[in-house]
Amino acid sequence: MASRGYILLQISLLLTVATTAFSLSPYYYKNICPEALPTIKKLVGAAVYKERRMGASLLRLHFHDCFVNGCDASILLDPAPNIDSEKNAAANQNSARGFEVIDQIKAEVDKVCGHPVVSCADILAVAARDSVVALGGPSWKVQLGRRDSTTASRTQANLDLPSPFMDLPALINNFKKQGLNQRDLVALSGGHTIGFAQCFTFRNRIYNATNIDPAFAKERRVTCPPTGENTNLAPLDPTPAFFDTAYFNNLVKQRGLLISDQELFNGGSTDNLVKSYSLYPEAFWKDFAKSMIKMGNIKPLTGNQGQIRVNCRKVNY
Ligand code: HEM
Repeated sequence: MASRGYILLQISLLLTVATTAFSLSPYYYKNICPEALPTIKKLVGAAVYKERRMGASLLRLHFHDCFVNGCDASILLDPAPNIDSEKNAAANQNSARGFEVIDQIKAEVDKVCGHPVVSCADILAVAARDSVVALGGPSWKVQLGRRDSTTASRTQANLDLPSPFMDLPALINNFKKQGLNQRDLVALSGGHTIGFAQCFTFRNRIYNATNIDPAFAKERRVTCPPTGENTNLAPLDPTPAFFDTAYFNNLVKQRGLLISDQELFNGGSTDNLVKSYSLYPEAFWKDFAKSMIKMGNIKPLTGNQGQIRVNCRKVNY
């Protein structure tokens, strides 16, 4: 009969195998394809050099991927008979961008690796980190080994992606559903230190809000009239091409662009954290990196779940 010690050893070995097989690791591609990460970095750098906004767009793609059934590249699937594309969800339609850059990265990475071994979900996670770095922000070790979904859900995207009209309790609840706390909410909203928003997403705030700096509202109304010009862009903070703390400095001055931005500093439970990020850039950087890793760990497909897509826009059949 097997001894108690032997059985315990077997159990611990099984547990080790289970956790290594099904957990993400920053070293996942070290032996499989050591050139994968440097290739992604190079191509993100080139894309951001060509257009600074692309860094913001790529960061947002990873966020919109992770919040809908986990970080599984579901956002990249084009409409097809069995695919209700998330690209057509309210928050993504005529808004999410950067898909061509992801296609280009995928093609190049598959070429240097010799075959399709890097998932589209991992490419999104690495491209988000490299974008933040390219715009002067913090770096972090991206956890890797995600696999790609074979499904997408526009319905789930409409339910789970936060709207710019949400108040603080709704935002807290939206993040809580993803296992993210108030600190994650404030740190990750700091992603709005880069990029732009369309007039229709902030019109109500600049014409009707009372918690807004009047000079700022006036400035924004110039390019965002009461009706029409819905797609005119405004920067989410005064330095949209730099990953800095201007976003938080702005919130303290009631110069947040979206209702959901200003809600983070509006007399509620997140005021102190906003103030502290505005004063201590290192604190924001550290927390942003930590929360990005946490967001990147939302419900990944691992082991033999899902697949490694050949084309990020299509399921392999
Ligand atoms: C807290 C809830 C959030 C809401 C309600 C929200 C909403 C929005 C909206 C409405 C836009 C403008 C889209 C458009 O006009 O086309 C936007 C842009 C953006 N968001 Fe968020 N967002 C949130 C959180 C986040 C998070 C967590 C990140 C990343 C960590 C992020 C990154 C970005 C970036 C980088 C842009 C600019 C994209 C570009 O210029 O292409 N957002 N967001």
